[in-house]
Amino acid sequence: MMIRRYDYGSPIFTHAIAIPQPVCTDEMPRFTVEKNGESVSFRVQMDEDDQIFGLGESVRGMNKRGHRYRAWCSDDFSHTEDKASLYASHNLVIFSGKSGVFGLYVDDPGAVTFDLGYTRGDEAVITSENGNCSAYYIEADSLIGAVKEFRHIIGRSYLPPKWGLGYIQSRWGYTTEEDLREVAKNHRERHIPIDMLSMDIDYMEDFKDFTWDAKKFPDLKAMIADFKADNLRVVPIIDAGVKLCPGDPTYDEGVEKGYFVKKEDGSTFVGAVWPGKAVFPDFMRDEVRQWFGDKYHGMLEAGVEAFWNDMNEPAIFYSEEGLEDAYAKADEMRGKNIGVYDYFALKDAFTGMSNSMADYTRFYHDVDGQRIRHDKMHNLYGAMMTKAGAQGMKSFNPDKRHLLFSRASFIGAHRDGGVWQGDNFSWWSHILLNMRELAGMNMCGFLYTGADLGGFGQNTTEDLLQRWLQLGVFTPLMRNHAALGTRDQEIYRFRNWEQMRDTLTVRYALIPFLYSELVKAAMKDDMLFRPLAFDYPADKRACRVEDQIMLAGSCMLAPVYEQNARGRYVYLPEDMLMIRFRSAEDYDCIPMTKGDHWIDLAMNEFPLFVKKGQVIPLAKGAECVAQVDAVKLTLLGWLEHGTAFTLYDDDGESTAIDLDKGLTLVDVQVKDGDITAKAEGIALDTSRIILG
Ligand code: GLC
Repeated sequence: MMIRRYDYGSPIFTHAIAIPQPVCTDEMPRFTVEKNGESVSFRVQMDEDDQIFGLGESVRGMNKRGHRYRAWCSDDFSHTEDKASLYASHNLVIFSGKSGVFGLYVDDPGAVTFDLGYTRGDEAVITSENGNCSAYYIEADSLIGAVKEFRHIIGRSYLPPKWGLGYIQSRWGYTTEEDLREVAKNHRERHIPIDMLSMDIDYMEDFKDFTWDAKKFPDLKAMIADFKADNLRVVPIIDAGVKLCPGDPTYDEGVEKGYFVKKEDGSTFVGAVWPGKAVFPDFMRDEVRQWFGDKYHGMLEAGVEAFWNDMNEPAIFYSEEGLEDAYAKADEMRGKNIGVYDYFALKDAFTGMSNSMADYTRFYHDVDGQRIRHDKMHNLYGAMMTKAGAQGMKSFNPDKRHLLFSRASFIGAHRDGGVWQGDNFSWWSHILLNMRELAGMNMCGFLYTGADLGGFGQNTTEDLLQRWLQLGVFTPLMRNHAALGTRDQEIYRFRNWEQMRDTLTVRYALIPFLYSELVKAAMKDDMLFRPLAFDYPADKRACRVEDQIMLAGSCMLAPVYEQNARGRYVYLPEDMLMIRFRSAEDYDCIPMTKGDHWIDLAMNEFPLFVKKGQVIPLAKGAECVAQVDAVKLTLLGWLEHGTAFTLYDDDGESTAIDLDKGLTLVDVQVKDGDITAKAEGIALDTSRIILG
């Protein structure tokens, strides 16, 4: 087990590494290091069957081999297979195969390409395009060992308050207080469990950060207090771009203090986002983060307890310069008979205007008195916005855990908040992408994560939402979110709403277990979700499974991700108990042996597999996290002998977390066909445990 750091060029400090490592001057093991002009590459040969894991939030399989990825935080709502970049840059890859387990983390906030058997099938080439980076070589005796080593040096993962595990109903398009109250009422009246309601950009006054429209929300404080009394919290969005608006305090203060990013000539860079013209805080600077973070206090004072940070790649629809160039192209073409290439050029002048490299090279950051062009540290912008938000929330309430999740991220931000997986589509394939990204993100420290259930873009369908919720039951961040103009996507809009409500009861019944496993994973630098290759490295078949995932060491998930399916094939790498859930109270427990199985799953059924010899606890369903009864638990498992496990619990919100103090031993004894179980302070029902 070892980690070795190698520096190239002038690395930019990224905050990713929490425990600084000494710089090695010997040769990096295994990788051939090549310098080409500015760039530096790390090349390694691969055996035919070697696998590569990592890269956090990225498209395609959990085994990343066979594609070329590029770390470049991108506002791209179309998560298709051909994409090289999504919103995050998680520059960790771990190789596993013939010559053991080793990995590389490239700590570089600029663009890094990962050619993982794309140009040559037997070779991986990882390139820091600017050549300024710290590269960390990792060696371990197992995949999970490599992850734990890496996670140790990047520091403990962010933990949300326990209520952060509650269900969030969200939509771009809840415009007024009445809209939110209506959604809340529709859930509560039907007993659909829920803890949070998102507030998307619609709540703001003209899309100005840290404002709310007093016409739509005449008494925000009172609304929040009412919700709170009903165990509901709101989660307002904060965007990275600040509206260019003299008279708006955020804009005025930022201008006065020189906090927005500037162009080479010293003038403020202006780009457009939701409000039209906007300016961008230089989050790379301590004092700017402090200032922006303090801006969250206004809404915190009104009772808000959670936020989501968005558009922080940063997304730029266009800049003044980019727009001028496009108009110029249009003028040039006006009146011409436009042939194919001119047509392409005209079209590209407009479509290529968003999130353009031209814009990302137009402005600069001030880092410790040094001016650095944005593209050299692009991938850090969102992470530094998260840092700002986290600081602001912590300083407002130092004793309570904050709830914050972001769209863009870089390793390091895993200590400050969670991440949602961005603007997916209502596509079946995105259920699978959601699941696969969980594994990658966990490797990189992001544990509080999940995708927009039901799909963000395009119209969902009842069966898609229903199946997607069945995966969402297990993801720490569980949010149903949809784009403006898409079909209504709240559970109660659908004929099968009762079945979906029942699905949610399972989520709430699992909260004692999920919370315990989430906290343990964070405190032990472990993953909540692992590819099967991590747990069954000797089982060649298991190592290639891409549509199942391990949960918390003891369990496995196998979601249905196909339209009209009434079941699926599942590979069991060992004997397991299938719990086929319909609701928290209604489920079958079926012992199944190692091997391939077809399992029937009606629309309202979904499986959780528990390894033989292990048990998991299930509470009763509840309508909000505060009402989950964690001291009356039913144990589920398939046992031959006694077993034991530990369950972590705490007040759910203090920042001080003492793992040992919060652990309770659950001891299950089997004697002469009788099962008894003991755990201090918890009443246990063992009647559902299967012996054999
Ligand atoms: C971005 C976000 C999405 C949000 C929308 C409007 O596309 O990713 O979640 O609804 O902006 O704020």
